Amino acid sequence: MKIYTKEDLNNYELALTFDDISLVPTEVSEIKSRVETSTNTTFMGKKLSLPVISSPMDSVTGIEMAKELTNLGCLGVVNRFGSTLENLFSTQDNIEGIHAVSIALSTDNAIIEKLAEQNLIVCIDTANANNYEVLKKCEEIKSKFEVKVMIGNIAHGGTLGQLVDAGADSVRIGIGGGSVCTTSIQTGIGLGQVSSLLDVYFIRKENDLSIELIADGGIKSPGDVAKAIALGADSVMLGRMLAGTRETPGEVIKYQDQLWKKYRGSASFGVKMKNEFIEGEETMVPYRGAVKNVIDSISDGLRSSMSYMNCKSLDQLRNTETFAVLSNSSYLERLPKK
Ligand code: IMP
Repeated sequence: MKIYTKEDLNNYELALTFDDISLVPTEVSEIKSRVETSTNTTFMGKKLSLPVISSPMDSVTGIEMAKELTNLGCLGVVNRFGSTLENLFSTQDNIEGIHAVSIALSTDNAIIEKLAEQNLIVCIDTANANNYEVLKKCEEIKSKFEVKVMIGNIAHGGTLGQLVDAGADSVRIGIGGGSVCTTSIQTGIGLGQVSSLLDVYFIRKENDLSIELIADGGIKSPGDVAKAIALGADSVMLGRMLAGTRETPGEVIKYQDQLWKKYRGSASFGVKMKNEFIEGEETMVPYRGAVKNVIDSISDGLRSSMSYMNCKSLDQLRNTETFAVLSNSSYLERLPKK
């Protein structure tokens, strides 16, 4: 079997995603237990104990989720939909413990000024960062306010230099890979998440650009989180993995003797509520209780992966150069059987 480096994977003839690859431990690990590993990281100036960011979707991150993620050492990006932004500023108590908020292209500067005053990260939440309106908004925000800006999304690194020139501090990578995303079906755009991430990673490296990379979309398990970091991501952004937890906005629904919560794409009909072009689905996911349980399982999985890979820090894991490309049967073999 060939052991692939990042560069080999980047040059692979097909676009790859998380299920196509696996990490290969090639050393005798010196790590006796998972607790010897550290998942601490600094992301966009914020100290995190796990490189996990919640997606600014209206069924994932409201004020409660963002605050709980802060407590858990992660980063919640509060969504921009409905009256969420106005609510945020209605009391000082609401803002307490919130570190990042998303805005639309149409959000006016009075709001952005308030976010900057509170030292919040601003996420310009659009489907396609490769658009002059997005770059103009980013440039304007960076020239007027002292604030860190996250933009997205991109699927390859061809325009990374322009995003950096516009002042972006981080970028969400992934188009078409989100679990409620229909972009690829509707438009034919989008490629495998592993290939997207590596393409941007190498453009950043080759051009010595300063911008943090967020693997966004298609992450289904703690193992996928470990793979994304091993591929060089600075952090991961999660939608479905956090959906259905107690802290997400929305009601718990009882249906056919089971508890559920809604999970829907930002470009779904339920969010837009008008006859616009729809690029997202709406679905129900099983209710899963406290988000802390999900975060703990991600932390455990990531630490265990680090101990297999003999990496005490995330930076060591980010330098992984030993990957396998799986045949479809190898992929299936690794799944637990009923
Ligand atoms: P998941 O973790 O696989 O569920 O993916 C979450 C990501 O999907 C988000 O962070 C967005 O980048 C993306 N996304 C959210 N809503 C939509 C949509 O309506 N259409 C396409 N992509 C979406």
